[in-house]
Amino acid sequence: MFYTIVGTQWGDEGKGKIVDWLSSKADFVVRFQGGNNAGHTIKVDKNIYKLNLLPSGIIRNKKCIIGNGVVLDPWALTNEISNLRNQKININNNNLFIAENVCLILPIHKLIDEINEESRGNNLIGTTKKGIGPAYEDKVGRRAIRLCDLNDHLNLELKIKYLYDFHFPRLEKYNRSIDYNEAYEGLIKISNEILTYSAPVWKIINDAGKKNKFILFEGAQGSLLDIDFGTYPYVTSSNTSSGQIFSGTGFGIKENHSVLGITKAYTTRVGSGPFVTELDDEIGNHFVEKGQEFGTVTKRKRRCGWFDSVLVSQSISINGITDVVLTKLDVLDEMKEIKICTGYRDGEKIFNYLPFDQNIQEKLIPIYESLPGWQSSTFGTTNWNDLPKKAQEYIECLESKIGIKISIISTGPDRAHTIDRNNLLGYN
Ligand code: GDP
Ligand code: IMO
Ligand code: MG
Repeated sequence: MFYTIVGTQWGDEGKGKIVDWLSSKADFVVRFQGGNNAGHTIKVDKNIYKLNLLPSGIIRNKKCIIGNGVVLDPWALTNEISNLRNQKININNNNLFIAENVCLILPIHKLIDEINEESRGNNLIGTTKKGIGPAYEDKVGRRAIRLCDLNDHLNLELKIKYLYDFHFPRLEKYNRSIDYNEAYEGLIKISNEILTYSAPVWKIINDAGKKNKFILFEGAQGSLLDIDFGTYPYVTSSNTSSGQIFSGTGFGIKENHSVLGITKAYTTRVGSGPFVTELDDEIGNHFVEKGQEFGTVTKRKRRCGWFDSVLVSQSISINGITDVVLTKLDVLDEMKEIKICTGYRDGEKIFNYLPFDQNIQEKLIPIYESLPGWQSSTFGTTNWNDLPKKAQEYIECLESKIGIKISIISTGPDRAHTIDRNNLLGYN
């Protein structure tokens, strides 16, 4: 059984919670893109775990894989491992495998991320400043340092020097400098530790696939941050859509593959860029407060707005989503009226998709349908029949707009706060 989990909006939909919930039955949990720009939160009773690079399956001691499509900050990795070990999570070379050909984020990438933002003036992307974009640029530019390069210290030094020299003119232009030796010596210090996890992961997961093991592919970010299909240029630098699992891990296309689209019951976004249903009023503030909408990685306040069925439908198509998982339903509990965006208006013109042209995107006005709120608590509900009738109607209305079923509903941050409506995985 193969499941891919992707966010259908601008990230932070609750992927970590759902991957953790699903992974009770999984054999492998695999990251296939992004890096430590991701922030996935898992709550188990009183314990809260924040994961950036490690697949969420690590909390349940599942076999976890970081695929070649990820960009890996080795220092962020060692920090995360030691923080999780302090929280009594077991991490060793029997449950963590990292692709030998994964490309590394070096200190210079974080510096370039900063310079790139600075140079954009008012049009800044609002990146996480983790060096993600610059690291992917060096990968495509065939200059990147890969995990397997740590085996050969002599050539490693030459490769790092070449990479740092390549960026020298731009750094100089912005009055910045950075010593390649710092990266080289730092890598030498931790190379033994991280090389213990190095493995031919494409082989491990294809072998597991042949044995029909339960493999969960854990997406980071969301479809609207996809480098191709997102709100470019206000996106991340990787393909966040389900198609990326193949090139980001080496897993071959197989049957039996379902794609779950994790979707918030409203919409949020961190960083700059268009957001047609954004609410700049007390309802938006209510979502921030009630939903605790503050970035896991950067602690920034997330922008909030109504559910946008245009964007979610688009994500469903692009990812081949088979089932939607609706999260944070409880955040809507107090609302008198709930709106769903069903289209956009630009003068006389109506759009049932988001056009790529930035000039048009900026002018779009949302078309809404309104539903009455349920104004009672759904927090922690685990059974469909225990949901208020109006909450059920809201979910059914969303299904009719997006055209596929909402199979799992999350009613709180804890692992247990989950409704498996159609007994999708036989968890009931
Ligand atoms: P991810 O990046 O998609 O994994 O999502 P984040 O972890 O960045 O953000 C989701 C936040 O919402 C986390 O703090 C979760 O603990 C929390 N959360 C997840 N599902 C629910 C839910 O159904 N209700 C509430 N109230 N919080 C939730
Ligand atoms: P998870 O996996 C929300 C956003 C940043 C910025 C843009 C580019 O937790 O859902 P980057 O540092 O990637 O170059 O920043 O993408 N961004 C996210 N927003 N959730 C995330 O991950 C994000 N990862 C990146 O805020 O707007
Ligand atoms: Mg997040």
